[in-house]
Amino acid sequence: MFFLGIDIGSSATKLVVIDENRNMIGRSVIQLGTGTSGVENAVSNLYASHDFHPEDIMGSVVTGYGRKQFGSADTEISEISCHAKGVSFLTPSIRTIIDIGGQDTKVIRIDGKGKIQDFTMNDKCAAGTGRFISVMSKVLDIDIADMGSIDKEATEIISISNTCAVFAESEVISKLSSGCSIPNIVAGIHQSVARRVAGLAYRNGIEPDLALTGGVAQNTGMVRALEQELNARLIIPCDPQLTGALGAALYALENY
Ligand SMILES: Nc1ncnc2c1ncn2[C@@H]1O[C@H](COP(=O)(O)OP(=O)(O)OP(=O)(O)O)[C@@H](O)[C@H]1O
Ligand SMILES: [Mg+2]
Repeated sequence: MFFLGIDIGSSATKLVVIDENRNMIGRSVIQLGTGTSGVENAVSNLYASHDFHPEDIMGSVVTGYGRKQFGSADTEISEISCHAKGVSFLTPSIRTIIDIGGQDTKVIRIDGKGKIQDFTMNDKCAAGTGRFISVMSKVLDIDIADMGSIDKEATEIISISNTCAVFAESEVISKLSSGCSIPNIVAGIHQSVARRVAGLAYRNGIEPDLALTGGVAQNTGMVRALEQELNARLIIPCDPQLTGALGAALYALENY
């Protein structure tokens, strides 16, 4: 018996399949979000690369920004609940989850059983989200997956003073033309996002242990910058982009 969790985010579609013993036996990540062919691609990728079939799935839950548009799952559950479920299953000691996605950033506090205490969300502006990093990486012509390794080469942090992504884009171009090194600018971009995220986290209140999830948690430069701003250690789950889909799959099993 298998259970499917589907997380349709604004930037990426994530699928996780677990068995009845809660082992993750299948996964698929497509860097296309809601309103695109992301879901179809992720589903066909899942069945093509694993040894199970649609008829083996006994239950499914959909979550994420695009969940209301997806009619083929048994149930839909909010992202906040699914992230809390997935993270507390992987690391029960976590009390604060910071999820940096492509469009919004969420800070969620949970108790020892994974129950939500409170949460805060930044969803109105690209500053402090993965979108800010994506826009800047395009200006610098750097693959998003290389931002972390380039950050490691920085010798100083060139602060970006504009928080608005549109103004910050011009600022980055002007720093480039005045001869600042790309790694130092990249470190400044990560610092800018980290400051916004830390502000949100402090407003909500943080309690250790802290986890960082979402696609942006794969960026080691962002982890460095956020640990610096929070003056705290962050625990990164082994598949940080998949925790919402994992939580959805766990709910599908429980519902069954
Ligand atoms: N290998 C990688 N290294 C660094 N960043 C990455 C990597 N892969 C994806 N990202 C970034 O992760 C973000 C997408 O993460 P995620 O899938 O958690 O977002 P989402 O769930 O679609 O968005 P939201 O939760 O805001 O609706 C994008 O900004 C993308 O640039
Ligand atoms: Mg998300």
